[in-house]
Amino acid sequence: SLPSRVEIWEVGPRDGLQNETEVVPVEVKVEFLDRLARAGLTTLEATSFVHPKWVPQLADAEELLARLDRRDGVRYPVLVPNERGLDRALAAGVTHVAVFASATETFARRNLNSGLDAQFAMFEPVIARARESGLDVRGYVSMCFGDPWEGAVAPEQVVAVGKRLLDAGCSQLSLGDTIGVATAASVERVLDAFTESGVAIGDLAVHFHDTYGQALANTLAALRKGVTTVDSSAGGLGGCPYAESATGNLATEDLVWLLDGLGIEHGVDFDALVETSAWMATRLGRPSPSRVVRALAG
Ligand code: HMG
Ligand code: MG
Repeated sequence: SLPSRVEIWEVGPRDGLQNETEVVPVEVKVEFLDRLARAGLTTLEATSFVHPKWVPQLADAEELLARLDRRDGVRYPVLVPNERGLDRALAAGVTHVAVFASATETFARRNLNSGLDAQFAMFEPVIARARESGLDVRGYVSMCFGDPWEGAVAPEQVVAVGKRLLDAGCSQLSLGDTIGVATAASVERVLDAFTESGVAIGDLAVHFHDTYGQALANTLAALRKGVTTVDSSAGGLGGCPYAESATGNLATEDLVWLLDGLGIEHGVDFDALVETSAWMATRLGRPSPSRVVRALAG
């Protein structure tokens, strides 16, 4: 059976823009976030408080949040890797943060300059202190379905990393297919591995990149398993600068089209969303990778 309502976790301003070769001006980012809020999206992952040398595209995190008109009823989560990131996020007045763990050793080194086990020493104090400050903390797990350096990833390893994040105090896990290699079958396997180990399906979100064109099929498989939070990026922007062959996220428009067809509520104004992505594509100087945006505004 399918859920009656899905929460769309919009990651375009963060996952999308972190991978642009050109740095997008802060006023364009502010307008992008404003337009997305006006289109009815209620969770907007706004930016990251990571090292500015590692992700120069998001080095303006403080300025962005200072300029942003944060609306009632909209949450603006940000990524924080470590205590320095949390300090910066707290100073900017955020209420929702996300830590991002890796399911593999190689990606933990490349993305975090850490290790599969060592990464928890970085996250655990962040999660604890964020919770003490009254923040909500999401935990990402990257490379859940395959890793460009290590190949296939065992579901038990993904579950072990995810459970450590939940035990440390994360309220939700987002299972990342960072390089877009999952299929409906591997999605079912990983979700089953979590639920069989006692994790509630309601605590799991899915985060699909569309590299191999599987993101929508994977989403449908996850919805059928009872997942009700789906990450996507307006216009299909996105990727990860530290993972080979990570291209755009599942496009929010493609997701909304699917949800509408299935009669699942989402609260988004589809036309306003398409218009926003078409506007952003013009700012970026290239067509949107979203099939739906291209069909309607291309
Ligand atoms: P490091 O170089 O090992 O950091 O980087 P360090 O702790 O050794 O500190 C070195 C210097 O950096 C120090 O300054 C720190 O203060 C400073 P110094 O004392 O030398 O002057 N520093 C910072 N400055 C500002 N903000 C900070 C910060 N932290 C340290 N937060 C670190 C370690 C984790 C910081 C680095 O590896 C990093 O920033 N990584 C982030 C990479 C990233 O953002 N990747 C993309 C997001 S993940 C993703 O896209 C996947 C996802 O979408 C899900 C999926 O698709 O699977 C979420
Ligand atoms: Mg991602």
